[in-house]
Amino acid sequence: MPNTNDSHAATEATAATPASGPAVPTRPASAAGTWLLGGDLPVHRMGFGAMRLPGRTWEGPAGDPRTARAVLRRAVELGVNHIDTAAFYFYKDLAANTFIREALHPYPDDLVIATKVGPDRDPDHNWLGAAGPAKLKDDVHRNLRELGVDHLDLVYLRFLGEDGPGDGRFEALAELREQGLIRHLGVSNATPAQLAEARAVAPVAAVQNRFSPGHHDPEAQAMIALCARQGIAYVPFFPLGGAGAPHLAGLRAVADRHGVTAAQVTLAWSLSVSPAMLAIPGTSSPAHLEENVAAAALRLDAADLAELPAD
Ligand SMILES: NC(=O)c1ccc[n+]([C@@H]2O[C@H](COP(=O)([O-])OP(=O)(O)OC[C@H]3O[C@@H](n4cnc5c(N)ncnc54)[C@H](OP(=O)(O)O)[C@@H]3O)[C@@H](O)[C@H]2O)c1
Repeated sequence: MPNTNDSHAATEATAATPASGPAVPTRPASAAGTWLLGGDLPVHRMGFGAMRLPGRTWEGPAGDPRTARAVLRRAVELGVNHIDTAAFYFYKDLAANTFIREALHPYPDDLVIATKVGPDRDPDHNWLGAAGPAKLKDDVHRNLRELGVDHLDLVYLRFLGEDGPGDGRFEALAELREQGLIRHLGVSNATPAQLAEARAVAPVAAVQNRFSPGHHDPEAQAMIALCARQGIAYVPFFPLGGAGAPHLAGLRAVADRHGVTAAQVTLAWSLSVSPAMLAIPGTSSPAHLEENVAAAALRLDAADLAELPAD
């Protein structure tokens, strides 16, 4: 696939310059630039992860539905057009997909909703292991129903670690893609071998693996470089280390120098690592949402990067 991506593409129109101060972007998430998912779906590189909306952790406490819907609407107002979800993001009777539909349906034309299938979870929150091909297809239909759409923009096969190759699961999703129910496919928590095997079955538009500063994973850098070369988006999960920002001395110093927060530096650092990197920070807090999206405009220089971990 030709790499038609230009992460440094011009940002969208800015509002009229106020009497004093710089122009304010009308859609601040666009300041991070745009990536073409699968070569044809433009998304701003600053997105949003919905996992934290139903419950702060898998064991709760429960999220607040009104705030969850407000966060989603505000994210879109701020220019977020890439939202990451899954049908297994639920806590008791609260579900990320339901919040997304309630808050945003009918969806803006440019909104890309990415979901994932693979792990199975019963209504009592027990993890049931990896879903087989037939169950994966059921789970795609469940996502279609819950989100109220006739096709899904991006569906990841989320590996659990122990899944072996050649089990027919990516093939099952590729069939649904052929039928028009899925526009693009991705893999998550995948090894380079699993990515290669998936690509032999169907095009892969995105990899969603763990990555944040200080999370030393020797495979992550290689996977990020591979994705950039192959025109595949790398969408790190736990972009804030899963907890707001990793505890790293360098982050604090760089944040103080720019007058921003450690979370904002963390997100800007991620986006600087590769043009193929898309951020999907997760929050249930309106204030954190504003803060995270504002990081789309933060640029780190060589001196900043020298103080931050190389991986
Ligand atoms: N594929 C996978 O296996 C996988 C695994 C995990 C996650 N994901 C996806 O990746 C997305 C991002 O991961 P994540 O949400 O787990 O972790 P994360 O984005 O690294 O961190 C989220 C945590 O940080 C806090 N936070 C967010 N913004 C903050 C800020 N500006 N200042 C201080 N604290 C802040 C949030 O709490 P508040 O709510 O209080 O802001 C939340 O506890 C998820 O939403 C999900 O869509 C995928």
